[in-house]
This record gives sequence, structure tokens and C-alpha cells, in this order.
Amino acid sequence: LADGPLKGRRIVVTSGPTHEPIDPVRYIANRSSGAQGTAIARALAALGAEVVFVTGPAQVAPPEGVTVHKVETARQMRDAALAALPADVVICAAAVADWRMAEEAASKIKKTRDGLPTLSFAENPDILAEISQMETGRPALVVGFAAETDDVEANATAKRARKGCDWIVANDVSPGTGIMGGAENAVTLISEEGAEAWPRMTKDRVARRIAEKIADALRAG
Ligand code: C5P
Repeated sequence: LADGPLKGRRIVVTSGPTHEPIDPVRYIANRSSGAQGTAIARALAALGAEVVFVTGPAQVAPPEGVTVHKVETARQMRDAALAALPADVVICAAAVADWRMAEEAASKIKKTRDGLPTLSFAENPDILAEISQMETGRPALVVGFAAETDDVEANATAKRARKGCDWIVANDVSPGTGIMGGAENAVTLISEEGAEAWPRMTKDRVARRIAEKIADALRAG
């Protein structure tokens, strides 16, 4: 482990999308690349943290120097994240699927002449909310992300309250921003102190700033 201000701190990071199986060959996914979560895990490790990286099927390789748990579904991600506790900090950067199939078909759903299949959904566990609202052993700092397309600050502020996390890193993923899957991000950090809009910068720089801010918060707290 590197030497640095996060030495001795254990930090869990969720990252990437989840895949929710429909049947043995099909699944529901989303466009998260895992880039921002991976950059955050790397930046935390560079500052000396012991990082547990729980990742869905991402497009980018996990960083060096962290413990990697690869998962597929939201429920697997939840179990791996909870199993990694206790931790000083949890950062939920994953784009967790909100829904899974109410029932996964055991065999491939066939195309038939008598109509289209109907998919019914069940709600996935909310990992960020669950960890934020732990009554015992809650991490000192819980950080969530909010991918918004409208009213970024207002929606993210409401999300922070609803989930019970300490910080929300909100980003504008409107079409045309090139943020989802891109190398840059423009984030607004929402905390108890209010909203702080950061200029557009690379996801690596966003990650380093978040890691430094976490080191400062732990030092102060
Ligand atoms: O609920 P929403 O997806 O808008 O909130 C985003 C934040 O919540 C992200 O930090 C994401 O990682 C987290 N989340 C989660 N589990 C879910 C859904 C979202 O941890 N099932």
C-alpha cells in the first residue's frame, strides 16, 4: 500500500453497471463504463487507502493495488459491498439497475407466433440507501452519485436527503455532454454545507479531488 493521508483507512467503492438476467442468454444493462468509479478507486489507493473495489461488468479494467470483487447483478453487488464492511468510507459510484426481472426464465424465452413476451420487474435493493441508513457500524462517510439530466442541483440535493448519504457527487449526463462513457466529467458536490460546482475536468482529476476531499474530511472528523 502507498504511503499517504489515507493510510490505515478502508474504503469500499462500487463501480460499473449491473446486468440483470432475463433468461440464460439475455440481460438488462446500462451504459455505465465504470470509468469514474475506477478512477476514484485508483486515486484512493494512491493516497494510501486499502480499497475494496466491487465492480459490475465494466468496460475499463479495475485499477492495480486494490482488492477486486467482480459481480454481475445488483443483489450480488449489495452482498459483496456489505461483506466488505466495516469500512471508514463507502463510495457508491455504480450505476445499479433499478429493476431486475420478477422471475428469471430458466431457459431461453422462445419467439412464438402468438405474441410478444411480457417482462415483469421487481425492485432491486438500494445499496447506497441501505449503507447510509445502517444503525450500527455505519461508515463515517458515505458518498453517492447522481446522474441527472435536469435540475441537477435540486434533484441531487433531494437525493442526498432521501438516501441519507453524506455527499452526493452529481453529474449532468444530458445527451450531448459526452459525459456518460467519456473521459471528462462536470460535477457538483452536494454536502451538508451546500452545493459546490466544479469546473469540467477529466474523470481522473475529479477522482483525485474527491480522494483529497475525503482525506481532508477524515482528518477533520
Ligand atoms: O437512485 P439513483 O440511481 O438515482 O441514485 C444513484 C446513487 O445511488 C448512486 O450512488 C448509485 O450507486 C446508488 N444506488 C445504489 N443502489 C441502487 C440504486 C442506486 O447503490 N439500487
